[in-house]
Amino acid sequence: MLTPEQIKDNWDKFLGYIDTYISGDRGKKLKDFYLKYEERFVMMPASHKSQYHNCFPGGYIDHVNRVIEAALKLDQVWREFGMVDTYTTEELVFSAINHDLGKFGDEQNASYIEQTDQWRRDKLNETYMFNDRLEYMTVPDRGLYLLMSNGIEYTKNEFLAIRNHDGLYEESNKAYLMSFSPETKPRTSIVYVIHQADLLAARVEFEVEWLSKLLGPKQEAPKKENNFKLNKNNSAVKQKALKTMANPALAELMKNI
Ligand SMILES: [Fe+2]
Repeated sequence: MLTPEQIKDNWDKFLGYIDTYISGDRGKKLKDFYLKYEERFVMMPASHKSQYHNCFPGGYIDHVNRVIEAALKLDQVWREFGMVDTYTTEELVFSAINHDLGKFGDEQNASYIEQTDQWRRDKLNETYMFNDRLEYMTVPDRGLYLLMSNGIEYTKNEFLAIRNHDGLYEESNKAYLMSFSPETKPRTSIVYVIHQADLLAARVEFEVEWLSKLLGPKQEAPKKENNFKLNKNNSAVKQKALKTMANPALAELMKNI
């Protein structure tokens, strides 16, 4: 869970990423879009089930910021390993900012709304449920549609990165990612960098939320008993131990320990 201060800081940071990385008229349009639905974006969870990641108020922007930061770092790692330069930093950050935009829902209906079933709230600890007023669309398709319908253009690289951000966890991405022929493999690694950034962020969010619960409180390492050391204060034990020593000279030495 996040404090109100953390939620506000995350939102300011998110808007700052748009200011810093998304240029010109497109940057203004993108920021206007997010500001128009500010209240919904600020409070959105990243998922509607507590078993998934960041299922709490403010979880969505917290996740997106983590993906942006991870993408910028992973980009450096890929470049250090010799990745061919096929995309810009603006394309990378734009893709990270909007990779999960489809989770927003549409202009009228949020995807995730308050769970109305009291039994599910009590027994399954479900705070949210999926809003079935929304017609079915995949998260990447809805995100790309939202950008397009709000007049926010995106490049082919950005389209491919947002479309494939779930990597091979999404069956339909096989057509793009499971080619064994050079001609049909992705011609830009932005799709892998964004997928890895999303994977990293969601995994860390899972670990923070669940690992301590699953592993239990940290166990203190048991203190070592120095059984091998003769205790000066226990002369009976000491004498008994010395008598068992075959070497009298060594026994004599041990007396003074
Ligand atoms: Fe994500």
